[in-house]
Amino acid sequence: MKEIRAIIRPERLDAVLSALEEVGHPGLTVAQVEGHGRQAGIIEQFRGREYKVDLLPKLEIRIVCKDEDVEKIATAIINSARTGEIGDGKIFIYQVEEAIRIRSGERGEAAI
Ligand SMILES: Nc1ncnc2c1ncn2[C@@H]1O[C@H](COP(=O)(O)OP(=O)(O)OP(=O)(O)O)[C@@H](O)[C@H]1O
Ligand SMILES: [Mg+2]
Repeated sequence: MKEIRAIIRPERLDAVLSALEEVGHPGLTVAQVEGHGRQAGIIEQFRGREYKVDLLPKLEIRIVCKDEDVEKIATAIINSARTGEIGDGKIFIYQVEEAIRIRSGERGEAAI
């Protein structure tokens, strides 16, 4: 099993959720996060002046899935979250040791 963590623009959430529904996924968690990438949160404001904001609000979508489903889920997120502008976000993929469904005690892929 793998965990996909996608940090996206908050305004892309609806599009990303629709794309995920189309491709299919076992479940997901959405968390409100703040962060910055390599531009360190520099954003343009009125009249060409730039203001430095340390942390920008983003959403993090977390999905634990089967290894074989990682590519289709990641691709769906990329295609729906991308605007082409800086700050579109990032996807990190982690190995998951174990999953347990609390109600039934099922473990592993049966629990996701
Ligand atoms: N290396 C990182 N580690 C952890 N979180 C990160 C990392 N890079 C980006 N993030 C998170 O992703 C969000 C969006 O990052 P962003 O898309 O600006 O990355 P970037 O590397 O600056 O790429 P771009 O040049 O396209 O803006 C950040 O606000 C932060 O929450
Ligand atoms: Mg950036």
